[in-house]
Amino acid sequence: MSAFNGQSNSQLILALSKGRIFEDTLPLLEAAGITVTENPETSRKLILGTNDPNVRVIIVRATDVPTYVQHGAADFGVAGKDVLLEHGGEGLYQPIDLNIATCRMSVAVKNGFDYETAVRQGARLRVATKFVQTAREHFAAKGVHVDLIKLYGSMELAPLVGLSDAIVDVVSTGNTLRANDLVEVEAIMPISSRLIVNQAALKLKRERLQPIIEAFERASQPKS
Ligand code: ADP
Ligand code: PRP
Ligand code: MG
Repeated sequence: MSAFNGQSNSQLILALSKGRIFEDTLPLLEAAGITVTENPETSRKLILGTNDPNVRVIIVRATDVPTYVQHGAADFGVAGKDVLLEHGGEGLYQPIDLNIATCRMSVAVKNGFDYETAVRQGARLRVATKFVQTAREHFAAKGVHVDLIKLYGSMELAPLVGLSDAIVDVVSTGNTLRANDLVEVEAIMPISSRLIVNQAALKLKRERLQPIIEAFERASQPKS
């Protein structure tokens, strides 16, 4: 299956989400000689052109990037490790960590909630999160019983209004937690964004994809 059915193997479709992933991927694209000619923040277009007539960028929700790439509707994409863990990664080749959109997955509670004691005493915890797979695995590994409450955003609100005892969310500066009187009680894992490639495209379009993957790899090495 090829992206935009019927197109030749020289055409490439890259799936990105608006905001930090789009912005942090631009320098990597530049390193591969690709300039996106439209800005998704000002344009309503979802298919963006580049200086290379054979490369186009599609703008999708961050959580949908793996789905487009898995089904071959995009040849490659950029997605956070958090999103990839929830998706499961089927049909995706994950060649490199791009070291962009770095943050950590953490457990947080309302200031004053004694998380350690609750865990030690074997209390059943109500945990609100968008990352149910990651949260389920984390608490299962600790032997903590949890009732998971699936949310789609604004997790920080849940403990404040009594929806949950704890949240599992990504944390970067900690500003959002502090602004909402929450404290981080456990770091689960570091998070960064990965390049993902459709497995069939990798075989059929290797000649076009390989130089881009290599340019991304060189440009995304952690600066020492
Ligand atoms: P969404 O609209 O799904 O929240 P974002 O653009 O905010 O999409 O997040 C995209 C990815 O960036 C996430 O999957 C995560 O890996 C990472 N991320 C999320 N929040 C932050 C943050 N505050 N700082 C750095 N990286 C983040
Ligand atoms: C993310 C995340 C946290 C916040 C953490 O939200 O869901 O709320 O960043 O970052 P901080 O520790 O630096 O405050 P985002 O900015 O992506 O907003 P969103 O609700 O639109 O996803
Ligand atoms: Mg976000």
